[in-house]
Amino acid sequence: MTATCVYKPVRGERPLWDFPDGTLAGREVATYFVSEATGWEVVPPTVLRDGPFGPGMCQLWVDTDESVNLQVLARSDHPDLRRMAVLDAIVNNADRKGGHLLPREDGRVQGIDHGICFSSEDKLRTLLWQWRALPLTDEAVEVLSRIRAGLEGPLAEVLHTLLTRREVRRTVERVDRLLASGVHPEPSEDWPAIPWPPF
Ligand SMILES: Nc1ncnc2c1ncn2[C@@H]1O[C@H](COP(=O)(O)OP(=O)(O)OP(=O)(O)O)[C@@H](O)[C@H]1O
Ligand SMILES: [Mg+2]
Repeated sequence: MTATCVYKPVRGERPLWDFPDGTLAGREVATYFVSEATGWEVVPPTVLRDGPFGPGMCQLWVDTDESVNLQVLARSDHPDLRRMAVLDAIVNNADRKGGHLLPREDGRVQGIDHGICFSSEDKLRTLLWQWRALPLTDEAVEVLSRIRAGLEGPLAEVLHTLLTRREVRRTVERVDRLLASGVHPEPSEDWPAIPWPPF
């Protein structure tokens, strides 16, 4: 079987001072593994593999509904976006822009471009603040508890192949903080909490 994919070779990555370890491709794959552990399918299937320009990340192409206005979608209360906001808080996504939302033709919404996730510094930067300080849904609490358990076992094992030990430890801390607070995070005043440009 063949499928259309997005391919981002490691060789094409620009070095970023705040992401000195590992690869951006590895961070994309790590985010996919966390998404899979949630069961929410936020991120399209993503793997590391060889391509014409060497090893890189390869992600299934998702056909989008072009009639959806991303500015309106990004401010909506679509349940898939609320789930995405929880995933972003877990992986510390520093770049959730409007253009990183994929409205599928079946009405579901997925997210892409997770190269700058999992910094060990808090950097959550997103457009999806509409649930800030609101209680996490029961579903989200259940999922976070499951992720927390996975971070003692198989999920941690796979993340350790892609991220530094410190980055994995910080991920555990972020999940613990979310479960302890019981609410969606609020934008910080210590760093820009909205990506620029936002779309
Ligand atoms: N899996 C996918 N399915 C469908 N479209 C995708 C997928 N991944 C990326 N795209 C499209 O390609 C564009 C660029 O992808 P992405 O943002 O991941 O790459 P990038 O290297 O960060 O490039 P840019 O600097 O343009 O953001 C997206 O805005 C989207 O339109
Ligand atoms: Mg991008």
